[in-house]
Amino acid sequence: MRDLTLERTVDVGVEALPTARGPLSARMLDLLTDRSVGGHPARVPEDPLGDDDLHLALYLAYELSYRGLPGVRDDREWEPAVLGARRDLEETFEAGLRQTIGRESVDPRDVPDLLREIATPPETDSLSAFIEREATLDQAREFLMHRSAYQLKEADPHSWVIPRLDGAAKTAVMEIQYDEYGSGDPAWMHSELFRTTMIAAGLDGSYGAYVGRLPGPTLATVNLITLFGVHRRWRGALVGHLAAFEMTSSLPNRAYAQGFRRLGFDDAAVRFFDEHVEADSVHEVLAGDLAAVLAAEEPELAGDVVFGAAAMALLEGGFADGLLRAWRAGDSTLLPAGSGLW
Ligand SMILES: [Fe+2]
Ligand SMILES: [Fe+2]
Repeated sequence: MRDLTLERTVDVGVEALPTARGPLSARMLDLLTDRSVGGHPARVPEDPLGDDDLHLALYLAYELSYRGLPGVRDDREWEPAVLGARRDLEETFEAGLRQTIGRESVDPRDVPDLLREIATPPETDSLSAFIEREATLDQAREFLMHRSAYQLKEADPHSWVIPRLDGAAKTAVMEIQYDEYGSGDPAWMHSELFRTTMIAAGLDGSYGAYVGRLPGPTLATVNLITLFGVHRRWRGALVGHLAAFEMTSSLPNRAYAQGFRRLGFDDAAVRFFDEHVEADSVHEVLAGDLAAVLAAEEPELAGDVVFGAAAMALLEGGFADGLLRAWRAGDSTLLPAGSGLW
């Protein structure tokens, strides 16, 4: 048993839902809180992959299947009106993904090469290089706030795939997830390591504390995994997402670790990144094998495996570009404060 003792924090957040960003999130908030649904105008987002309004609405609907929402009854999770509104949002999001990525049939034997191609780091400048070399403390804190939307529930969205797999594929995913959840030690859960980094940065480590400040492209990176996770029909894409995620993790995390050390964070605060350098160099092999095994066992899923990986790369790339663009222009990457504390 490893001897890391983490400072436990008391969750103080989750006092209020975020405020609406447009008719889609306003309607979802009405449905979640059982208010009579107001006459919100129809709205078709121009950018279904990063729209602030759409992705907040979808994030809130999905959150009912994770930890729930403040002031929202648990039984809203399966309320037909909520599910119907969620389905409309998902259709818009999915249509945007299909239109941008395309969806072709793939020979299962080509899956490993295609995943490697997708996971090749971009030649251009990257978010991790920026954090490593030039980010200010405020920018590093913003980065943590963005990532908290996923990292505080790290691995949970991929766990949806477990009951949908069998045999070697199931064993491989369990091997990865066992590490993500701390290998038997709750203090080493990756979500807890991330919370420690947030607290060291002077941030609120409570689950959901910053969701109201996060723009659409950030929430979309998390909604993507949940979309693939909650729908069994997308299990191939979920495995492809996991594979690409693990294959693109080890090197950036090395750079993040160096960047946070440069900014004065100590070993305990940087442990989240250090742990990923080590763990994900193993996970990327396991996840690559998992994808290949699934594609071989269920050849009709090979195209979805590649689609899931490509979708991950697309949305993570958009997220990173948005942060870099704002920071280079001297702007904050967050939405204004006061958008709800949840
Ligand atoms: Fe992890
Ligand atoms: Fe991992």
